[in-house]
Amino acid sequence: MKPNQSNNSSKKIQIEKMFDSISVEYDLLNRILTFGSDIRWRKKIVSIARTSNPKHILDIATGTADIALELSKINDSKITGVDISRKMLEVGRTKIKLRKLSNQIVLESGDAECLNYSDESFDLVTIGFGVRNFQNLEKGLKESNRVLKKGGVIIILETSVPQNYIIKYFYLLFTRSFIPLIGSVFSKDKSAYNYLQKSAEKFPSGKEFISILKKCDFQNIDIKPLMLGATSIYLANK
Ligand SMILES: C[S@@+](CC[C@H](N)C(=O)[O-])C[C@H]1O[C@@H](n2cnc3c(N)ncnc32)[C@H](O)[C@@H]1O
Repeated sequence: MKPNQSNNSSKKIQIEKMFDSISVEYDLLNRILTFGSDIRWRKKIVSIARTSNPKHILDIATGTADIALELSKINDSKITGVDISRKMLEVGRTKIKLRKLSNQIVLESGDAECLNYSDESFDLVTIGFGVRNFQNLEKGLKESNRVLKKGGVIIILETSVPQNYIIKYFYLLFTRSFIPLIGSVFSKDKSAYNYLQKSAEKFPSGKEFISILKKCDFQNIDIKPLMLGATSIYLANK
């Protein structure tokens, strides 16, 4: 199921259904499509997060909870993961139970653009490969800002398009063929992987994304390009 970008009112429902439909194979395909680098990127998020010693953490668009699980390595942290896809959360809950981390990580259904948490309730917000699926990006980022304590940290991991023209050429050549191919071999929902590739190409990255973060009242914004700029970590304070 491919989310219809032109019909914004239903994009959220289509996104939810799309992630429901790929929830079982999601982790495996993530490993394949990033050549296993997603594991390293999540560790990097945690090594950055540790420096501010966060206790109350919200992982938005938590999916199958891989970031939440990695964040649980931070001493005395309590993690809430929130997502609109119930089936992605089901996979996440099974993993949390298997690792006996149910006291530390709680997964809840919820929408990033209308969070059910009080103002200034978290020290850290993380969002991994989630923002580009939001129906209204600024609304989602402003909600993240609202629930963060003053001075709190947001860490966003997202695909980006390499700035260097030569690298960009090979990146586009590769992603336009490899992602749909892997999706068609391993997934029941082939169009989901076409959507994921196309949305990665269109999503604002680098300076463009930084200016959106500024507009949403974040400051001290830093960007750490990964994998020759095909993915980026954005780091900012409220
Ligand atoms: C590509 S997955 C990322 C999952 C996980 N964070 C990771 O790093 O693997 C994107 C997730 O964003 C969720 N999502 C999309 N829009 C959302 C929204 N408005 N609110 C909450 N979750 C959302 C989807 O359901 C999906 O689980």
